[in-house]
Amino acid sequence: MPKAIKKVAVLTSGGDSPGMNAAIRSVVRTCAYHDIECVGVYRGYEGLIEGDFKSMDARSVKGIINKGGTILKSARSKEFRTVEGRQKAFKQLTKAEIDGLVVVGGDGSFTGALIFNQEFDFPVMGIPGTIDNDIYGTSHTLGFDTALNTVVDAIDKIRDTASSHNRLFFVEVMGRDVGHIALNTGIAGGAEEILIPEEDLGLDRLVDSLNRSRKSGKTSSIVIVAEGDKIGKNIFELKDYVDENMEGYDVRVSVLGHMQRGGAPSCFDRVLASRMGVKAVESLLEGETNYMVGLLDNKVELTPLEKAIKGKSKINLELLRVSDIMST
Ligand code: F6P
Repeated sequence: MPKAIKKVAVLTSGGDSPGMNAAIRSVVRTCAYHDIECVGVYRGYEGLIEGDFKSMDARSVKGIINKGGTILKSARSKEFRTVEGRQKAFKQLTKAEIDGLVVVGGDGSFTGALIFNQEFDFPVMGIPGTIDNDIYGTSHTLGFDTALNTVVDAIDKIRDTASSHNRLFFVEVMGRDVGHIALNTGIAGGAEEILIPEEDLGLDRLVDSLNRSRKSGKTSSIVIVAEGDKIGKNIFELKDYVDENMEGYDVRVSVLGHMQRGGAPSCFDRVLASRMGVKAVESLLEGETNYMVGLLDNKVELTPLEKAIKGKSKINLELLRVSDIMST
């Protein structure tokens, strides 16, 4: 029989994403609803090691569902990667009489949670929070939808100035290892070409595509580049390449950067965070552990943490084809 859960801790870890506050709120309020205690842990695993905890009740999360970032702060902890660090964290949790932990973060944070469970048999539950949408076991991670809207808004603005000056813009979006943001926003923003890490498209294709666009009468172009794209050149090198090898282009570069991680979460992310928080706490109360809560076919489902960490969140090939057709 697993030990009854009477007190749950929640932390946010890794890169922040819009919707993390809504997830914290949901975890806290679900605990209150079930009459169990809830504790917020500051600065992710760093705060877990140091015992930087704060008791939270339903009212302590008022007014945060619409806020970007995370009120609990986030960190990437080197110490939690060591056995000594995890031992300290376990001592802090035991001292505070906490029986279960909800981790809102990405696959690195889930790896830490899984190892911690294996070492100390401590119940853990994951909520996927990252704008990159690079986690297996969920169609959407928290913050992805908001980031898409932020990026599309930026592309629309860049297009205004691109078309006024007949310019070619390379726009870099986030996505270290995956092209979900690039592919979706490229289609939504009407990009001429989208370069993503999953596809080695090569420079020739980019050049062909730009030439085709020009022949078809386009006077300005936008190329979306995921920061981890496989073409082998960074966005500034791409600009230099076009400057040196293609005549008649006035090229500019725009790196959107961390603004993509901020801002008020979209309605979709607020609802998703609320659903995931409920499922995470109720699953812990039902004696489940080592799962990630995810959205699959619009249902909130559990995926074993191990699978969520090892699995690949694949790019939608249909979107690639749609993007090709749309840039005709
Ligand atoms: O949140 C994910 C992500 O945005 C990646 O796409 C990006 O490479 C990374 O975070 C950068 O994060 P940081 O500046 O916090 O290291």
